[in-house]
Amino acid sequence: MVKTAFITGISGQDGAYLAKLLLEKGYRIVGATRRTASINTHRLQYLGIEQDIEFVEFDLLEFTNILRVIERTAPDEIYNLAAQSFVGTSFEQPLFTADVDAMGVTRILEAIRTFGMTNCRYYQASTSELFGKAQAVPQNEQTSFHPRSPYGVAKLYGHWITVNYREAFGLHSSSGILFNHESPLRGVEFVTRKITLGLANIAAGNQDVLELGNLDAQRDWGFAGDYVEAMWLMLQQDEPGDYVIATGKTHSIRKFIEIAAPLYGMEIEWSGEAEDAIGIDRKTGKTIITINQAFFRPAEVDLLIGDSSIARDKLGWNCKTNFSELVEMMAAADQKRVGERQVNF
Ligand code: NAP
Ligand code: GDD
Repeated sequence: MVKTAFITGISGQDGAYLAKLLLEKGYRIVGATRRTASINTHRLQYLGIEQDIEFVEFDLLEFTNILRVIERTAPDEIYNLAAQSFVGTSFEQPLFTADVDAMGVTRILEAIRTFGMTNCRYYQASTSELFGKAQAVPQNEQTSFHPRSPYGVAKLYGHWITVNYREAFGLHSSSGILFNHESPLRGVEFVTRKITLGLANIAAGNQDVLELGNLDAQRDWGFAGDYVEAMWLMLQQDEPGDYVIATGKTHSIRKFIEIAAPLYGMEIEWSGEAEDAIGIDRKTGKTIITINQAFFRPAEVDLLIGDSSIARDKLGWNCKTNFSELVEMMAAADQKRVGERQVNF
């Protein structure tokens, strides 16, 4: 029997990698896309899988649409990856973020419950942003939550409603508390892609300076291609559960830049602190990194580092790609794109 997976957020980074993985496993993939002026499928094209996906029009804000789509699709597994996923934007659009990232989860769970789809397994894209002002180092499934943004607060609701529908209605609903994961398909507004694309443009002479915010925050960065495997593994378990997925290593934004720069033939020397910091390329003497207050957040998450022991033991999940390999992969992809003057990043 061919299994059907319904993936929300299929046009995003994780949606694309998950679809590729599940296609390789022989799944039928129904991919949910929002109605926009032009459907954004460039990530699926990049992975060469666009033609293998059945697309349906879907929005987490519209309950009747969710009901119809889920009834028609009759999925074996639902992966809810759709979200307003940018933390910075959530401070500007807190109500919209709550509607999509919190209420949107309830709408899908209610649809599963309404149709009595007790065999349908559900994955919720939870996040290390739940830990926010981290109460322990490293963070694991027992660490208490203290979100620091409207995004984190909305995702906290999404996380608990997933737990609640499991406990109250017996749904096979699991929540992956994933730490930051990146790739050549990461959105360009997130700091890692902003750096790898920005440095590629500076190296090519298309741009003089890269403006960033807080260079001292630390993140546990892994490769998205490894993390989607953990999502699938969670839904293959007899019992649903919550799992932390992380590399167990953390680096600052500053460190990310220091490791990336030599891949572009640059060598970074820092001068000044906090808002006055600048990064100079020693080889040319030019200032290539400056700080712009606009990229600071009203409340910051300073340090994230996860402990995935439970995922390793119970799911058999392992992180295959290390930090340097991740940076190299992203830098190479952006150098190629800039060299070929590609427009759809
Ligand atoms: P992403 O690239 O920003 O993709 C988000 C997806 O959600 C896009 O396909 C977007 O569609 C869709 N979407 C947004 N609002 C929607 C709505 N109202 N209805 C239906 N679809 C909507 O995010 P990602 O990095 O792949 O992350 C996937 C999920 O994991 C998100 O829920 C994110 O919050 C969570 N997460 C990510 C990380 C990470 O480090 N990447 C870590 C932990 C958790 P459009 O293309 O139309 O905008
Ligand atoms: N985006 C961005 N742009 N971030 C910057 C910049 C900048 O110019 N300069 C410094 N930063 C810092 C942010 O302040 C933050 O501390 C860190 O870089 C990472 O920012 P993002 O890459 O935007 O990711 P995030 O950690 O806020 O959120 C991502 O990871 C979460 C998991 O922890 C998103 O993918 C979320 O959806 C996800 O849940």
